[in-house]
Amino acid sequence: VRRIGVLTSGGDAPGMNAAIRAVVRKAIYHGLEVIGIRRGYAGLIQGEFREMHVGSVADIIHRGGTILLTARSERFKTEEGRKEALQKIQEAGLDGLVVIGGDGSFRGAAHLARLGVPTIGVPATIDNDIPCTDYTIGFDTAVNTAVDAINKARDTATSHERIIIVEVMGRQSGFIALNAGLAGGAESILIPEIDYDLDMVVEKIERGRKRGKLHSIIVVAEGVGSAIDISKEIEKKGGFETRVIILGHIQRGGTPTAFDRMLASYTGARAVELLLEGKSGQMVGFENNRVVNYPLEEVLQRTKTVDREAYELAGVLSI
Ligand code: F6P
Repeated sequence: VRRIGVLTSGGDAPGMNAAIRAVVRKAIYHGLEVIGIRRGYAGLIQGEFREMHVGSVADIIHRGGTILLTARSERFKTEEGRKEALQKIQEAGLDGLVVIGGDGSFRGAAHLARLGVPTIGVPATIDNDIPCTDYTIGFDTAVNTAVDAINKARDTATSHERIIIVEVMGRQSGFIALNAGLAGGAESILIPEIDYDLDMVVEKIERGRKRGKLHSIIVVAEGVGSAIDISKEIEKKGGFETRVIILGHIQRGGTPTAFDRMLASYTGARAVELLLEGKSGQMVGFENNRVVNYPLEEVLQRTKTVDREAYELAGVLSI
């Protein structure tokens, strides 16, 4: 292994820059050349390559976003697109590739590995919906951003004795909603993985009111449906005054937490080691406080579900 490439793909996540930095510096430490590929697989197909040096990743460990830019490429999902990418990889003389991204990105990475390109995945998505790792880069920062918003919403909800519904990201998963709801002391948490009953949500608000509780915070994962529709139903059923906050892409930005930077540093560096060991088609993960690796094919077959006990605990603690 002499020369490797690194790209970020799919939705960006805070800590991706720290992961790029880890890959670049670890590779240079071992005497490798590193090529940064801009705009994910779309840029790979276009040959948007640039050499990375120690200084190319200076002053980025604390920055959100990704200096390499990211994209979701439709062309790469086609066989012709992947052939074009393979050609560009061969022309550039890359002996390995590190893909920093989420599940869509790993499907692409697995394809490249099957085509004979040594490829390693580093999980980065605020959704945390990647199996074979307890956490993904960006999740902790996104949860902290959501908790900060819930704290602020709670102040004004109390003053006005209102119900505030906070919609967080998570297209198919409730990890952000569950952790932010638990840490933010939300009265109810609605996530796509677990059925909910709005009558029970309303009953809980009523019980709280009788005890003198002035506010209620309901956290809804976007995968459940529109927070606006849910608020209207709650108003109709309970006659309360509600307000809706949709946090949206704010959750994808901002300076990464120390945890996300550490995770990015460990997993990014390990990805380079795996390439040096001659491995391919693997994803680096972090399980039980240890850096691990699993075949990408296995990662793509498995599903990761939210912790039901944590969900139930959130309910118990917010009675
Ligand atoms: O997968 C990360 C994520 O932020 C989801 O939570 C969200 O549904 C989606 O990306 C939004 O994607 P886009 O970048 O297209 O707005």
